[in-house]
Amino acid sequence: MLTIQELKRRLSYFPRLNFSLLPTPCQRLRFVSEKYGVELYCKRDDLTGLAMGGNKSRKLEFLLAEAKERGCDALVACGGVQSNFCRMAASAASLAGMEMHLVLGGGTPKEARGNLLLDQMLGAKIHYVESSEWEDWESEALDLAARLESEGKKVFMMPVGGSVPIGILGYVEAFLEILEEGERLGIEFDHIVHASGSGGTQAGLVVGKELIGWPGRILGISVAMKKEKLEPHVLELASATAALLGGKVSKEAVKVDDRYVGEAYAIPTGRGNRAVELMARREGIILDRVYTGKAMAGLLDYLEQGMLPGGKILFIHTGGQPELFA
Ligand SMILES: Cc1ncc(COP(=O)(O)O)c(C=O)c1O
Repeated sequence: MLTIQELKRRLSYFPRLNFSLLPTPCQRLRFVSEKYGVELYCKRDDLTGLAMGGNKSRKLEFLLAEAKERGCDALVACGGVQSNFCRMAASAASLAGMEMHLVLGGGTPKEARGNLLLDQMLGAKIHYVESSEWEDWESEALDLAARLESEGKKVFMMPVGGSVPIGILGYVEAFLEILEEGERLGIEFDHIVHASGSGGTQAGLVVGKELIGWPGRILGISVAMKKEKLEPHVLELASATAALLGGKVSKEAVKVDDRYVGEAYAIPTGRGNRAVELMARREGIILDRVYTGKAMAGLLDYLEQGMLPGGKILFIHTGGQPELFA
């Protein structure tokens, strides 16, 4: 077990670019807290500042520093046309003085809206792929990287969602920020709840919990994968990240609930949309429909059923609002 100071010291060995507004604020959700007789707070990672904010900016601080260390001058990332990650990677690359290439799948849209509008504004070079298959986007991105290398560029290939151990360090740090915030508020959280997609955010939180022996629970509400797939994936990512920091994680620390995905990834659900409306109307907070709305729907269902014992809960708002304007 490490002390908080020791974990901070180990994290400080990794190079990092500072382009986010940290620490992000923590806001008490008054209406929901009173309705369910709990203390519910929202950590506003949608306010990290980088090109409209979101969870990816924490990962990108470490990933771009790594790219710089390797002497890269071009960055290639792929995702859907409304990828939050691609939008934020485009911003991080431009701040780091790197050429940004985005391979965006699912066809060429007639009009640039939401994240795509921002990608263009940020100066990213956009390469559209007609296919809707992830494998095709990835192979197009690899071809592009090879072409750029042959033209003399040194390319940094962005991992999916930034979810590799170096990027995940950003969420180990976020976990320490949460503990500090709890101390400032005089509250010891029993649960942290958030949207889990490619698993990096959850892996980072789990590493923080395990390395310092935090007794609370972390619950990832899946927005895409089945629990049977996401739990081992998060465990693998968390184990690799913990190894970078000289520690280990246990299987029991990884908990995913996949009951709020609905039909599929990125297809809004009725209860997700109701959660978005409730948060907008009662708390003044705008969630998105792909990630945070579904995660909040899960959290509200847990509260309804009294499934969060202790009642001191932190929800992480991981961003994603540009999608609302797509
Ligand atoms: C707004 C938002 N929330 C949550 C997530 C999920 O984060 P992770 O991929 O680290 O699980 C993403 C990932 O794209 C996202 O864009």
